[in-house]
Amino acid sequence: MIYSKEDFEGLRVAGRAAAETLDFITDYVCAGISTYDLDKLVAEHTKKQGGICAPLNYCGYPKHCCISVNDVICHGIPNKNEHLNDGDIVNIDVTTIIDGYYGDTSRTYLVGNVSDRAKELVDVTYESMMKAISICRPGQKLSEIGKVIQEMGEAHGFSIVRDFCGHGTGKIFHDAPNVLHYYEPKDDKVILKEGMVFTIEPMINTGTWEMYIEENDWTARTADGGLSAQFEHTLGITKNGVEIFTKSHMGYTKPPYNKKK
Ligand code: MF3
Ligand code: CO
Ligand code: CO
Repeated sequence: MIYSKEDFEGLRVAGRAAAETLDFITDYVCAGISTYDLDKLVAEHTKKQGGICAPLNYCGYPKHCCISVNDVICHGIPNKNEHLNDGDIVNIDVTTIIDGYYGDTSRTYLVGNVSDRAKELVDVTYESMMKAISICRPGQKLSEIGKVIQEMGEAHGFSIVRDFCGHGTGKIFHDAPNVLHYYEPKDDKVILKEGMVFTIEPMINTGTWEMYIEENDWTARTADGGLSAQFEHTLGITKNGVEIFTKSHMGYTKPPYNKKK
């Protein structure tokens, strides 16, 4: 799908709203809060902006966002009985619909005192996403995105999740193409074009990339219990490069997003 200049205007509005919800939630991410309460805050903030939470009722998904703690790779379901603990890493993934346009973005937050290896994981995951975004432009191979992320992750001894990927988006939540976060030679033939809109959302693990799905049919966890981090931006290919729709306008550019004093 190719999006127009007017579509890009709409995507800017939705993307900015999603990013502002992640900015807003930052101060609440601390030891003791439940993932249920974080979800409630996401729902309230999205509504206040005139947005709709895309995850709610999507394929039967029961909550407003995904909150994935430690060994949860993605699709953690907010829960009253799940409270954050000192040393956790926690990804919050929000998708805001405004005027039919989707802004899909996530960040991994550090709760209190996090181990050096966990910090390295979060940092490398963020940097790999940003490096992959930086090489996006018309004429670039889709496969380069995964190549850049895989090279950076594996250079630090981490593994790249293979069962979930980025995706085309815009006016449809999940659209073609699949945006893999590891190198896939078949995607050498897929060339980026002006007007394409998709997400890049690498999930990177300290141990194995293998996973299992919980009884709830959603939540993916690492097979070995190792940590998993993720970041996500929604972006559009421009005439000469790329535009990030979901960037923070409040200076929350890179982790750690520490609680403000
Ligand atoms: N936001 C997720 C993504 O990045 C999708 C969540 S679907 C849900 O694609 F149903 F689990 F919310
Ligand atoms: Co996504
Ligand atoms: Co998402």
